[in-house]
Amino acid sequence: MKAAVTKGLGQGFVVEDVTLAEPTGHEVRVEVRASGLCHSDLSVATFLGGEFPAVLGHEVAGVVTETGPDVTQVRVGDHVVGSLIQYCGACVNCLAGRTYLCERPETTVRAPGEAPRLSWNGEPVWNFSGLSGFAQEALIHENQLGVIPEEMPFAPAALLGCGVLTGAGAVLNSANVRQGETVVVMGAGGVGMNAVSGARLAGAGRIIVTDIEDGKLERARAFGATDVVNSRTSDPVEAVRELTGGGADHVFDFVGARPVTAQGFQMLGRGGGLYLIGIAGTDAGIDVSALSALTYSQKVQGVYMGSSHLKRDIPFYASMYLQGRMNLDDLVSQEIALDEIDAGYEALKDGTTARVVVTDLLR
Ligand SMILES: NC(=O)c1ccc[n+]([C@@H]2O[C@H](COP(=O)([O-])OP(=O)(O)OC[C@H]3O[C@@H](n4cnc5c(N)ncnc54)[C@H](O)[C@@H]3O)[C@@H](O)[C@H]2O)c1
Ligand SMILES: [Zn+2]
Ligand SMILES: [Zn+2]
Repeated sequence: MKAAVTKGLGQGFVVEDVTLAEPTGHEVRVEVRASGLCHSDLSVATFLGGEFPAVLGHEVAGVVTETGPDVTQVRVGDHVVGSLIQYCGACVNCLAGRTYLCERPETTVRAPGEAPRLSWNGEPVWNFSGLSGFAQEALIHENQLGVIPEEMPFAPAALLGCGVLTGAGAVLNSANVRQGETVVVMGAGGVGMNAVSGARLAGAGRIIVTDIEDGKLERARAFGATDVVNSRTSDPVEAVRELTGGGADHVFDFVGARPVTAQGFQMLGRGGGLYLIGIAGTDAGIDVSALSALTYSQKVQGVYMGSSHLKRDIPFYASMYLQGRMNLDDLVSQEIALDEIDAGYEALKDGTTARVVVTDLLR
């Protein structure tokens, strides 16, 4: 089968003939129909690194074509979405419903020494996040797959596995936003827009979005922002304090740069919470005033994958999409072929492109 192989840092995505093993145990063979380009894959391919050669891609939607002997949760013909949340289902965190904190995620992939899922020229290929979605087919543990209705188109479905779980999940699961509460979304990128959708579903009273590009703020309004603030041309802390009458209940940081995160903390009202989701660089972080935090009972929380339970949340968001209550179509700015991933990432640098999705898997 064809897969876009990353051969080393900075070497991009090159389509090659790659061999996929037969499914064993809980593995599921998925015919990939759509594969989203997320920033994290590019980070791995350009500076974070890993084991190369690799097949990256972790926003994947497709159809089940074969199941391993132990698979019970999906059937051939099911339409599925993969997620990079890897969980065993048996550790204390999994049993407590916090699968995103699983203590034994490695149980979802093949052990070292076992034949690899993917190989190229006889050499093993790194099966990134147990998904490797930049390929015609993928072998994925059944725990990493959420089932979606057949009516759901594949391109928006692919976004469910990472950007939607993260953005909407931060609002609905991590912060548990209640109706009438005030929400600030810092960073109107693809993930931030799903936080706006999540805030609408929660019935937030006010949804304020900050960014440094007017085009993105305009798009944020279309997604449901009630107020937008360009933090380059006005002071976002002052603006939020004024709009909320003293400070916000929830601030979601999708930017992850020290000065921006500090502003986020200053935007909090009494009892408010700041949620850290984005990371712009390795020095991302925050110094918190203990005096303010304790006087006003404020909190700061890091959020991994929107505290999501993928088996529950992927079908839920699919249903919200099909009911017209979650806008995903406007996040799919461009559909490309498997051999155009480098160009796709280039296009993402342009402020008007929200997400690029591979939907032509034939070349
Ligand atoms: N925590 C997790 O589990 C998780 C999962 C997926 C993605 N992420 C992270 O979430 C972040 C957001 O992802 P994305 O795809 O939306 O990225 P993106 O680059 O599309 O969005 C970031 C936005 O922040 C804006 N921005 C930059 N500086 C700003 C400032 N000073 N004030 C306000 N806005 C500013 C940019 O213009 C851009 O619109 C990324 O860092 C990504 O790695 C985290
Ligand atoms: Zn991602
Ligand atoms: Zn577990």
